[in-house]
Amino acid sequence: MVADFVVKYPCSSFTEVSFLAVLPLRLAPDLTLRQKAKRIRNIDNALLRLIEDMIETMHAESGVGLAANQVGVLQKVAVIQLPEDDEAMVLINPEITRREGEREIEEGCLSIPGYRGTLIRSETVRAKALDRNGKLFRITAQDLLAQALEHETGHLNGELYIDHITNPDNLYKMEPRHNSENGSSSAEEQENSIQAAKG
Ligand code: NI
Repeated sequence: MVADFVVKYPCSSFTEVSFLAVLPLRLAPDLTLRQKAKRIRNIDNALLRLIEDMIETMHAESGVGLAANQVGVLQKVAVIQLPEDDEAMVLINPEITRREGEREIEEGCLSIPGYRGTLIRSETVRAKALDRNGKLFRITAQDLLAQALEHETGHLNGELYIDHITNPDNLYKMEPRHNSENGSSSAEEQENSIQAAKG
């Protein structure tokens, strides 16, 4: 099958290649998660391909965001897609330029499966980044988007959300709920709430 495809559609351009890959996730304590990603200087086909695969991986894992470190690539690129968004936001060389306010929220991470934590994040976050066309954009975000921006830029700086948890009691393991009578609905509800903030 693969050979067939290659013969029919030689790789003359990026857009003709439609094999999207779900990339294997790096899980803590993988050292790549603790390294700083490098600033991107060229937006080339390899990067665009990586971005598409990261989006595919984020969807497959039901995450709200994904940073390149999480797929073993130390380049400063992340993707974010809130549940209500139709498209993923691509952030190349993202930087948080301002943080305002504090709020306590619950958070999880695809690289730390099965755990959730309560931590302090900013109420409002301003950030700038390049989109996949290399165009600079700025955003002011609150709620889940602000949280995702702090979480994913943290990844690119070698941080994990657990670094912001000061009290060990605020990190907890998620126990799968088994309810023989209404198992499906409660499991689904729980899964939906878990998915609310993984990145
Ligand atoms: Ni994460």
